[in-house]
Amino acid sequence: MTWHVMYPAVVNTLFGKGICPTSQSKIKEFEEHFQKYDEDFEYASQMPECFLRNWSKSKKWLLKLFEKVVLDAERTNPSDTTSKTLLQHLLDNLQGKHLAPNYGLLMLWAAQANAVPVAFWTIAFILSHPSIYKKVMEDLASVFGKAGKDKLEVSEEDLKKLPFIKWCTLEAIRLRSPGAITKKVINPIKIKNFTIPAGDMLMLSPYWLHRNPKYFPDPEMFKPDRWKEANLEKNAFLDSFVAFGGGKHQCPGRWFAIMEIQLFVVLFLYKYEFVALDAVPRESPLHLVGTQQPMAPFRVQYKCRE
Ligand code: HEM
Repeated sequence: MTWHVMYPAVVNTLFGKGICPTSQSKIKEFEEHFQKYDEDFEYASQMPECFLRNWSKSKKWLLKLFEKVVLDAERTNPSDTTSKTLLQHLLDNLQGKHLAPNYGLLMLWAAQANAVPVAFWTIAFILSHPSIYKKVMEDLASVFGKAGKDKLEVSEEDLKKLPFIKWCTLEAIRLRSPGAITKKVINPIKIKNFTIPAGDMLMLSPYWLHRNPKYFPDPEMFKPDRWKEANLEKNAFLDSFVAFGGGKHQCPGRWFAIMEIQLFVVLFLYKYEFVALDAVPRESPLHLVGTQQPMAPFRVQYKCRE
């Protein structure tokens, strides 16, 4: 459900309306290939493609689609920089145009593969904690009035008045962040008496760092209030929060991701009333790269608010 709501909204924003397939008839085939591509992404980054035939087939299908996406984006590329899509900005700055479909596909993967599961986890954690769910609903009522089925328009100013939902999002990211981020050492690094030579690979685990009680007391607990301490107005996270990596390759989509997930939570909970039927699932141990995937479904009962 999360995928079906997030995917069209995100691709229309990042790539432009109508550029990626979003209609019911075309989306099914796309979804099958994208899910296959996502499922084996981390193995494929380490292994020759001939060992992963289905993955390779889906990648080729998606690259073919992105050849058209890139052509459409180039054809409609406006000269005015303020009305360009993210893909059009990328194309303007790209050397080696033949790789444009690969970059476009990678951008879609980076945007979807992390933000969709985080949106899922955020909703699952909120619905499983009755006092947190109640607080979120009170906050929504204070900004938009009584929740209901009316069409809701949400502005940046509205989101600023809902910091608790932002904290819930960040807390879900903390608890389900990527298992590993790897980096190649470019220049030798000296730490005390040790030198890490250039060419070595270093691995950082946000998942384990976020479970260190020194930085995050009661690390396994979903406690959105701990984010009160972060200076989010100045775009600073809590110390030792590294879900988005660091340095010059830190995730460039991090603030977009937090905003889209906040929006998703607002619209979902405003419009529908939920009852959780399952406990929050454990994270699957099969994935190390990217946001953790759920090991089991999280079923809900929902109805449209009156
Ligand atoms: C909650 C959602 C997200 C999480 C947890 C996440 C996490 C990450 C991480 C860990 C990295 C690697 C950083 C490093 O190597 O230091 C990364 C890179 C990247 N992310 Fe995200 N990301 C998210 C959402 C997004 C979105 C929505 C977009 C696009 C709109 C995006 C675009 C990218 C790109 C293009 C890179 C590669 C940057 C580079 O290598 O220079 N991400 N992300």
